[in-house]
Amino acid sequence: MKPVDPSALLDNLSWRYAVKKFDSTRKIPDDQWAAIERAIILAPSSFGLQPWKFMVIADQALRTTLRVASWNQSQITDASHLVVFARRAEMTARDVDRHIDRIIAIRNTPREVLAELRTMMLGAFSAPGFDVNAWAARQVYLALGFFLYTAAQMGVDACPMEGIDAARYDEILNLSAQGYRTTVVATAGFRASDDWLAPLAKVRFPAEEVIERR
Ligand SMILES: Cc1cc2nc3c(=O)[nH]c(=O)nc-3n(C[C@H](O)[C@H](O)[C@H](O)COP(=O)(O)O)c2cc1C
Repeated sequence: MKPVDPSALLDNLSWRYAVKKFDSTRKIPDDQWAAIERAIILAPSSFGLQPWKFMVIADQALRTTLRVASWNQSQITDASHLVVFARRAEMTARDVDRHIDRIIAIRNTPREVLAELRTMMLGAFSAPGFDVNAWAARQVYLALGFFLYTAAQMGVDACPMEGIDAARYDEILNLSAQGYRTTVVATAGFRASDDWLAPLAKVRFPAEEVIERR
């Protein structure tokens, strides 16, 4: 692996901000977009179960419809790319077996070696109080973090977006029928030269307040 220089990395993270106004004429080059897609696939998840679906919405008419379900925020139509991060609505034995089958296919692991892992996963999902929505959403947000980080390291702008009517998204995209629920959205592209937020300083609590050392 090639370690990234710490100061360059932090410069890039300081450069990024949640873009309010994208330059609708600029598109993310294919190789950069491919890296962002690969980065969200590479995001870690609990047990490696990947309880998500990433819907890349290129159709402009569909994006106009989704904008109405997104507090009319302009990023939905004006960014180069729009991704809807959906979570699995339930976790069944089929989901667990899909993952087990994938491990076997990729690593050639004997099925019997994975029997205990399978039982553990099924046990976790049937435990009293297990909240599949909260669990799956946590995994999806990790992928969102990978999206934002990767974009920033390549000089691609982005905006994470929770200001959406998730139930309406589910209807528009027919997600429930596929067993998924809209969780959060990410837009990416390039900031407009007159985005009002771009010149403003970053607002963060001081490190001494948020990092406690013992
Ligand atoms: C999960 C999440 C949802 C957000 N939803 C929106 C949104 O709907 N619209 C928007 O303009 N910004 C949205 N933001 C951006 C935040 O307001 C922004 O990340 C925060 O103020 C920190 O600023 P910075 O990202 O520019 O450093 C969201 C951020 C996160 C992490």
